[in-house]
Amino acid sequence: NSGSVVVVGSFNVDHVWTVAALPRPGETLSGQYRTGPGGKGFNQATAAARAGAPTVFVCALGEDLGGQLARALAAADGLDLREHASHEPTGTAGIYVDHDGRNSIVIGPGANADLPVDFVESQRGAIEGAHVLLAQLESPLASIEAAFEVARAAGVRTMLNPAPADARVPASLLALSDVITPNETEFCAQLERHLGERLDASTVAALDDDALHAWCRRLLPHGTVVVTLGAAGCFVSHADVALHRDARTHYRVAAAKVQPQDTTGAGDAFNGALAASWALRPEAAFADHLHYANRYAALSTERAGAAASMPHDADVRQRFG
Ligand code: RIB
Ligand code: NA
Repeated sequence: NSGSVVVVGSFNVDHVWTVAALPRPGETLSGQYRTGPGGKGFNQATAAARAGAPTVFVCALGEDLGGQLARALAAADGLDLREHASHEPTGTAGIYVDHDGRNSIVIGPGANADLPVDFVESQRGAIEGAHVLLAQLESPLASIEAAFEVARAAGVRTMLNPAPADARVPASLLALSDVITPNETEFCAQLERHLGERLDASTVAALDDDALHAWCRRLLPHGTVVVTLGAAGCFVSHADVALHRDARTHYRVAAAKVQPQDTTGAGDAFNGALAASWALRPEAAFADHLHYANRYAALSTERAGAAASMPHDADVRQRFG
């Protein structure tokens, strides 16, 4: 299926409380509560599908209400769901957000931690038929690596969103990644893990383009690194400019101007839209895909929720032309 995206990843039921200040030990607070679909994998798959790409989502779900929610939402968005039926509960996330937009998150991986290598390998046909394979780090690393091995052998492009930052990405998984998309914090985590270099996010944010490019080249000598910079947009560093139909090895793409209401899942919006744009328009310059992903992610922040906040392609075009 040319133009299609396969996402291997997590589904969570997000429980979100908006509080005046994040709770301290022993404290009882009340806050405004909402619940909705999330998980980095599902958020990214929803974004890819709503951006217009035929999308397969490979995941593990429990036999409970969360699993039923995932199935119903996947059907509504036309996601091709490839579900491992787990005996664990469906994944959950408890999220506190304060009035400054800072958050504290506790993940209950549940079924997400139970996505077997052999189940992923049983989806070989879908992966081999895709244009882009996209994964994050809320699923077992061995299962992600198995998917990337299938993709690499078939010449399918691989994109790794190394989130959350504390996951232990093996060098072998980086070696199988054509593109990685860390935010500043995740970029620092990978520099420390793979190069033994300690930088902090504010240092990275202050680096000039040539210095940031040099760090990217050391981290992923064979591939493309996209560092997402929140409201500052993103930075890209290529090993092979021609492969990505770009004119420059490294450059920044400014974010679209919006009035953010809720940035939960904004990184996921960016990743899903980038994968979709790349899959749908492989002849276009990578800069065009980054531009689209920036606009798509910006629009997602104007809406509440994670997966629920993903705009449709038509919304993006109507808003930004
Ligand atoms: O990236 C945002 C997501 O991270 C949330 O939807 C939550 O489920 C956590 O996985
Ligand atoms: Na949002």
